[in-house]
Amino acid sequence: MFQTMTAPPPDKILSLSELFRADTRQGKLDLGVGVYKDPEGRTPILPSVATAEAAHVATLQTKAYVGPGGDPRFVELVRDLAFGSEAPVTRIGGVQTAGGAGALRVLAGLIAQQAPEAVVHVPDPTWVNHHSVLADARLRTTSYRYLDAASGQLRIEEMLSDIAAMAPGDVILLHGCCHNPTGADPVAEDWDRIIDAIAARGVLPFVDLAYQGFGDGLEQDAAALRKMAARLPELLLAYSCSKNFGIYRDRVGAAFVLSETAEAAGIAKAQLGVRNRVAYSMPPDHGAALVRDILGTPELAAQWRGEVEAMRRHVASNRAALAEALAEIDAQRFAALGTQKGMFSCLPISAAQVDRLRDEQAIYMVSDGRINLAGLDAAQAPVLARAVASVL
Ligand code: LMR
Repeated sequence: MFQTMTAPPPDKILSLSELFRADTRQGKLDLGVGVYKDPEGRTPILPSVATAEAAHVATLQTKAYVGPGGDPRFVELVRDLAFGSEAPVTRIGGVQTAGGAGALRVLAGLIAQQAPEAVVHVPDPTWVNHHSVLADARLRTTSYRYLDAASGQLRIEEMLSDIAAMAPGDVILLHGCCHNPTGADPVAEDWDRIIDAIAARGVLPFVDLAYQGFGDGLEQDAAALRKMAARLPELLLAYSCSKNFGIYRDRVGAAFVLSETAEAAGIAKAQLGVRNRVAYSMPPDHGAALVRDILGTPELAAQWRGEVEAMRRHVASNRAALAEALAEIDAQRFAALGTQKGMFSCLPISAAQVDRLRDEQAIYMVSDGRINLAGLDAAQAPVLARAVASVL
């Protein structure tokens, strides 16, 4: 069976971490995989998470199974964090998943089961793993125009005309905030037009919300999702707690279906439970229990909100420092960087230039020019800008 197997291509993002670890050069810079780093370059355990974890471990009585849908209280609290207090909660069914990628995969499985002919339209560009997850679910995919790579600006008119040409019943994958890899988010007026176009065409939004809190703030970053939920009959949401709780390796996420009726939402929830069951029986409990305890304890929740805001500000200040340093090199070429949101932006440089930065200067970024701004600190911004200038 295995003699004819071919090796998979290396993962564009994760393979960088291995290369970086093996690099022995002094002063090497890791702008690859999307994890938050503090000013000392560490990916810390948030103090709110450490507090919740200590209490949880001290009081945990059992490790018996939780059930295929995970912990219902966790699901409720994450639902409220994402959809907000005005959400039509009776029409939302959800389950806990193994991270945001797990949520994407179970929702992709649900689409494949319910509408195998539907085409999933993804932004060009999008997170590389979106392509792999959707292909794994045997879904047909195509891209819609999203970013003008040269200017770093959203191609809103082209995006709207691509939506107008989608078949009713097709699915559109949207990044709820902090677009990965570009950081180019629609502004509020753009979202209104996108939602109008989606409503007019009868396509199903499949929202990936993996960076809530890293753009403009926890509430602001959920605004587009909440508008969609208020306006549209149905939507799918894949939620990740990896970044905003800093619990990457614990694999904590949730998958939600907004349906037209409470009855349909209940059925969708049960079907999501089946998707979990066939993939891994049930989601891992530990990290989700910590998120539940934080969100369910007002003082801890307030502390955590402050910690997310501090992470957001740190990344935003790195972004501002780099935007300023790059403006001195070529103000027009790098103008969009300062306006983009979240951890990522794509530098308008070629894959060959990315390779040169790695080979000549030990600066690691994804081949499409994506940089993780959390990997930088403000003092390194001019160094990075000069390095980029040297390969232009
Ligand atoms: C990223 O985009 O770097 C993160 O979401 C990590 C990953 O799994 O790719």
